[in-house]
Parts: sequence; C-alpha cells; structure tokens
Amino acid sequence: MTDAITITRPDDWHLHVRDGAPLHTVVPHTAAQFGRAIIMPNLKPPITTAQQALAYKERILKAVPAGLEFTPLMTLYLTDNLPASEIERAKEAGVVALKLYPAGATTNSDAGVTDIKKTYATLEAMQRLGILLLVHGEVTSPDIDLFDREAAFIDQHFIPLRKDFPELKIVFEHITTQEAAQYVSSCNGAYTGATITAHHLLFNRNAIFIGGVRPHYYCLPVLKREKHRLALINAAISGDARFFLGTDSAPHPAQLKEHASGCAGCYTAHAAIEMYAEAFDNAGAIYQLEKFASFNGADFYGLPRNTSTITLQKEFWTPPESFAFGEADLKPLRSGEALPWRMIP
Ligand code: NCD
Ligand code: ZN
Repeated sequence: MTDAITITRPDDWHLHVRDGAPLHTVVPHTAAQFGRAIIMPNLKPPITTAQQALAYKERILKAVPAGLEFTPLMTLYLTDNLPASEIERAKEAGVVALKLYPAGATTNSDAGVTDIKKTYATLEAMQRLGILLLVHGEVTSPDIDLFDREAAFIDQHFIPLRKDFPELKIVFEHITTQEAAQYVSSCNGAYTGATITAHHLLFNRNAIFIGGVRPHYYCLPVLKREKHRLALINAAISGDARFFLGTDSAPHPAQLKEHASGCAGCYTAHAAIEMYAEAFDNAGAIYQLEKFASFNGADFYGLPRNTSTITLQKEFWTPPESFAFGEADLKPLRSGEALPWRMIP
C-alpha cells in the first residue's frame, strides 16, 4: 500500500476565484497547492478585454501569500461581439484562452454566446495566434433534459466547431459524461483536451439528495449517474494526455447556496489535490495522479511543466467547516468531513 507520494507541483486548469475580499480567502488555498491556475473570467461584469484581464491578474497576485510562487493564467469571456482585434491585444497581454459559455448555461453566463457562428471571426484570430478556446459544453434549450445537455452539446456544437477550426486548441471543460469522455478520446490530442473535477470523480448524482437536498453538491454541469462517474475515473487514471486536472472550484456565499434557488458551484480549492488523490487511490491508481495533475495540462497548453514538488500522505484530517468570504461564510464541499489524504505543508 502506498501511503505517501511526491509529485511534480500540479496546476489547476479551471478555477473561479471571484474578486474583492473573497480573493484573500480562496487564492491562498490554490496558491498553496498549485503552481498555476487558469482563472475563469465570469465576473459581474465579465472580463472581456486584455486590459481588464491584466488588472484582474494584479488583484489576484496581491492575494498570493508571501513566499508562495503562483501564476494566474488569464482568460477572456467570449461574447457574441468580442472583436477579433481584441485577440491581438490579448496575446500581447499574455492571455492564454477565451471561455465560451453558452448564454444562460451557468453562473454569470448572461453575457454568453447566443450563436457560436457569431464568434467565428474571433475564433479565426485565436486559431491563428495560438490562443485556446475553453468550452462550457452544455446546450441550454429548455426542451433538453438537464442531465442530457452535455451529450447534446457534442453533436450540436462541438463536432461542427472541431470541423470548422481544426487547428484551434479546444478544452472541453469539466466533462461529466461517458459520451464526453469517449468523444474527447476519439479526437486528435494535439488540439482537443478535457478537464475533470475532483467532485465528478468522487460523487454521482445521488450525493445531491442523500438524507435531504444537499445544495453544496450542486454544480453545473450537474453530477451524473454512476456509469458516467466510472467513465470519468477511467479517463483520468488512463494516463491519456488528453485528460487533465481542472477543479472548477466555484465559491459562493453559503447563504446563496442554502437558498430557495441555490447557486451552482462546489468549493474544493482548500483540499483540491487531496480530493483528487482520494479518487485516484480509490481506483487503485495513485501512481497515475502525476500525469493527470502535473503533466498533461501543461503539455496541452504548450507550457513548461513545474519543477518543484509536493508530497501527499495518507492521513486523515478534517479541513475547517467554513471560511470567511468577505462578509459571508464559505462552506467547502464535504464541510466537517475527514479526508483520507493530506498535502504535507
Ligand atoms: C461556476 C461558477 O459558480 O462560476 N459554477 C459551477 O457550478 N461550476 C460556473 C461554471 O463553471 O459553470
Ligand atoms: Zn467553472
């Protein structure tokens, strides 16, 4: 039995840190574990210009505790009318990707894309300049069952997009289904990758309802049935370079999650690598964690792998039940529960 492992410092390829006072709670959690993180641009209003991304990056860096080396990798929020000319400025500013949210698909996505065709000139510029497209892959039409929205997106949008922009690097973000895992496995790994969250590896949709409705397990895309969780586990532990770590840690004030119309998003940044270690260990594949967490994402993005290491030990510990979040409380996923793996500081 392996009870400790040392791996190259991982990166988080999908993260929400919000803005203002909450940055000072959530950024230190991520910076303690990860070398870099892809910062989602779904603020209110969204980050849509290179200049806004640079200013946001500065605010994030101010929240990194002294002594930690952490690089936020910035993204812009794709809208129907984000001009292609902004892509050149984004490239110069070091922006690495744009995020496509179908309008209305998730938290703060009102400004999202209503028709992907409207963004084609911008996607053309991205393909030319080597800027990635990160996709929230769910259709939004009310006639499609909530649990089928990811699978429907593949046929309706992902396949046509892939065909129209063969050399655009696209990440299918936070995949949740067997269909998405299979589809990504069938693509050319130089241009198509996928992130997988720790919570989609650890839980199926029963977790939302056990003993009463549990809003902290509600995220989008929503947890799916067990066969999908198993397909995601298989993809993550396979060593296949197309699959990599993206927590989708998405903090919300506790009172807005424990609400008649609760927000979507699970907070996992306080114990992210530990939850991935647990999922890999449960599958008997802790030895595959490093590829998924520390190599595959950097390789896909064309960035160097980190050079420092972290050590994880099999040892129960209980993270704090809640954290300060500006004026509010932030309740992490599995609040109050003991976790079996711990990163050694
Ligand atoms: C995210 C958020 O809260 O910003 N919520 C979520 O459930 N994952 C948005 C997103 O990534 O869909
Ligand atoms: Zn997200």
